[in-house]
Amino acid sequence: MNIAVAGVGMWGENHVKALKSLEDEGYDVHLQIVLDADLARAKLIAEKYGVKQHTSDLEEVLRSDVKAIHVVTPPSTHYSVASRCMKSGKHVLVEKPLATSAADALKLVELAEETGLTLQVGHLFRYHSAVKELKKLIGEDALGRVLYLLVKRLDFRKPREDSGVLWNLAIHDVDLFAYLLDKPFPTQVETLAANFFGSDIDVLTVLKADYGEVFCLAYESWVSPLDDKSRTLLAVGDKASALIDFISFNVTLTSTAMSSKQFTIDTKNAKSYKVQESEPLKTEIIDFLECCKTGRKPVADGEAGYRSVQVIEKALKSVELGRSVECP
Ligand SMILES: NC(=O)c1ccc[n+]([C@@H]2O[C@H](COP(=O)([O-])OP(=O)(O)OC[C@H]3O[C@@H](n4cnc5c(N)ncnc54)[C@H](O)[C@@H]3O)[C@@H](O)[C@H]2O)c1
Repeated sequence: MNIAVAGVGMWGENHVKALKSLEDEGYDVHLQIVLDADLARAKLIAEKYGVKQHTSDLEEVLRSDVKAIHVVTPPSTHYSVASRCMKSGKHVLVEKPLATSAADALKLVELAEETGLTLQVGHLFRYHSAVKELKKLIGEDALGRVLYLLVKRLDFRKPREDSGVLWNLAIHDVDLFAYLLDKPFPTQVETLAANFFGSDIDVLTVLKADYGEVFCLAYESWVSPLDDKSRTLLAVGDKASALIDFISFNVTLTSTAMSSKQFTIDTKNAKSYKVQESEPLKTEIIDFLECCKTGRKPVADGEAGYRSVQVIEKALKSVELGRSVECP
């Protein structure tokens, strides 16, 4: 299947690398064109990875015989690029967030329904083996009643110009909460966000999402010089807790007893193990290729992307109003 990548900046290059690697492994995929608004960047990536065609003109890609396009452009451009691709009959894998408004995200979901094309969203962590392990542990009741989830994504990087940590980092976590708890929406969200640098781009946020019996917190930052690249998810249940590290693929499981009568932790028998290290981006792309061929729904489908966009819109509303906001 001939394919193109639109947007070959920092993350788009990873898509190119993963596609070339799948090509080498014998998957039925051929990266035919790389596109970037910056033609010099498209040329550089094409030369580096041996891609025949490069361009800065989306029309050239739409006229070609590629069947599918990865949209890895900045968040504010996802809707316009992805909708043009789908209107030209191309399957799309759109990076997260699906769009930067719920209205646009819904239009993409409707376009996919009307055309029968695959619409997948880059909710990468659904394809992470430590997340799969945690979902299994929760499903087997290994943690008991889940009390809360706490995610930390702490980084030190120059803020994006078009969108902040809510659209770029928290979007992963509101999707993970829904995925792990099997609940499409929290009942309400309450969010604090800071921008510090005189622009309206949020660089630090604490998002609280209330799922009824489960309380979820996400702490996201681009301004954490001392916790550089800390990415963990702690799931606390009344029988046991699990801590997963997205970077090391490590899972730590500790038994606890938490009730009004007993409050103990069994650190002696804590289990720490590595799940199989896989490349989540490659797993995500394999899902996409299969869905384009078979017409089945991806693990991270357009509806999941639309739901997460709705929650982030509510989180932004909460920042604006300075109080909690009902969801969806
Ligand atoms: N799933 C993940 O874990 C993950 C990680 C990082 C980034 N991302 C997502 O990937 C996307 C790109 O992020 P990035 O860090 O690579 O950004 P980036 O700024 O490094 O790259 C974006 C590229 O898109 C090009 N571009 C801009 N507008 C375009 C247009 N209309 N058409 C074609 N090209 C265009 C730019 O010239 C640039 O080269 C974002 O949506 C981001 O949220 C996802």
